[in-house]
Amino acid sequence: MSQHDAVEVIIAKREGGSLSDSQIDWVIDAYTRGEVADEQMSSLAMAILLNGMERREIARWTAAMIASGERMDFSTLSRPTADKHSTGGVGDKITLPLAPLVAACGVAVPQLSGRGLGHTGGTLDKLEAIPGWRAALSNEEMFAQLESVGAVICAAGDGLAPADKKLYALRDVTGTVEAIPLIASSIMSKKIAEGTGSLVLDVKVGTGAFMKDLAKARELAEVMVDLGKDAGVHTVALLTDMSTPLGLTAGNGIEVAESVEVLAGGGPADVVELTLALAREMLAGAGRSDVDPAEKLADGSAMDAWKAMIHAQGGDPDASLPKARESHVVTAPSSGVLTRLDAMAVGLAAWRLGAGRARKEDPVQAGAGVVWHARPGDRVVEGSPLFTLLTDEPARFDRALASLEGGYDIEADAASYEPQALVIDRVS
Ligand code: URA
Repeated sequence: MSQHDAVEVIIAKREGGSLSDSQIDWVIDAYTRGEVADEQMSSLAMAILLNGMERREIARWTAAMIASGERMDFSTLSRPTADKHSTGGVGDKITLPLAPLVAACGVAVPQLSGRGLGHTGGTLDKLEAIPGWRAALSNEEMFAQLESVGAVICAAGDGLAPADKKLYALRDVTGTVEAIPLIASSIMSKKIAEGTGSLVLDVKVGTGAFMKDLAKARELAEVMVDLGKDAGVHTVALLTDMSTPLGLTAGNGIEVAESVEVLAGGGPADVVELTLALAREMLAGAGRSDVDPAEKLADGSAMDAWKAMIHAQGGDPDASLPKARESHVVTAPSSGVLTRLDAMAVGLAAWRLGAGRARKEDPVQAGAGVVWHARPGDRVVEGSPLFTLLTDEPARFDRALASLEGGYDIEADAASYEPQALVIDRVS
């Protein structure tokens, strides 16, 4: 006889009660083993979304998800470890320059990443645009690469938080993704199980983010920071703007190219700013505030680490990136200052062009995406290029163009335009 049954746990949460430690341990374990059915877990997830969880429940839920799988241990590496997690945004390629940059500063980065779903891109999809690069590494390969190169970006193996893998897929199709306790425990179970010594969370706020308003983003950041600290991981969060997409590109190969520009000492100012801000937090968390990451971008050592990291995973860092077969240019309808560029509109356009996928099993196009030729605050001239849309399939242009409609404003008189700060706040 089981200690609990699923209906009892569902009803407890449905009635607004809090779940006991033993109910939580049981339900996560029984769900992972298939004893609790998907329909029961989806009902519980909805009750959690509607009624919330106390901090104790979230901490226990996270611990139970960690315990559902293996926990990696990098404590015997010769250098400290630090990782970054972003809650997801448009044009968010920061992991690509950040991991080799932090490695070049003497801190190892064990970054387990995912593929994109919906309008936000996935880091693995971006890197897979590089000819030969492979996402799947064994734990031994990961460890060896961390020791030799200092940075790994790879797919999380099946052994890591399997309860989350199952639950995340279920939440995706049951309208229960947005529950803060479930988002926080999902992210933190994977990051704690991954074994990093310190963690920086980039919690995105704005139209292109999961969290559209600052209060909710702050709450998510606070819950995650507490979960990390409780687990002995040095954790801080930056709340950063995602009302405007990052940089000048959203797609796969085109985001790799932009990241390489940053590693070469150039690139869009906002991408450089956020990369350096997160690098400084990661270095501080790992006890290496003495190193200035800006110097490592300028002196080429971050680029050397990037090439070594790509090469170690079978990729050719010098190969040309795949190009989309078709392009379409959208010109500025009037002259003035671009005062708004909506992250969701751009993300949807890139997704509809084939840079993202509608279902987990869909392929993505390496060359597809959107390039924007101006950022908010820039002056544009009527008739000059505003966006370049890229895809292998021209039939996709119409729907992508429709998503950009109403996604930007050009004002002749921009006297009231106020730039939005990229880093909004820090939670520690
Ligand atoms: N990313 C995750 O890994 N889990 C969530 O629940 C949301 C974003």
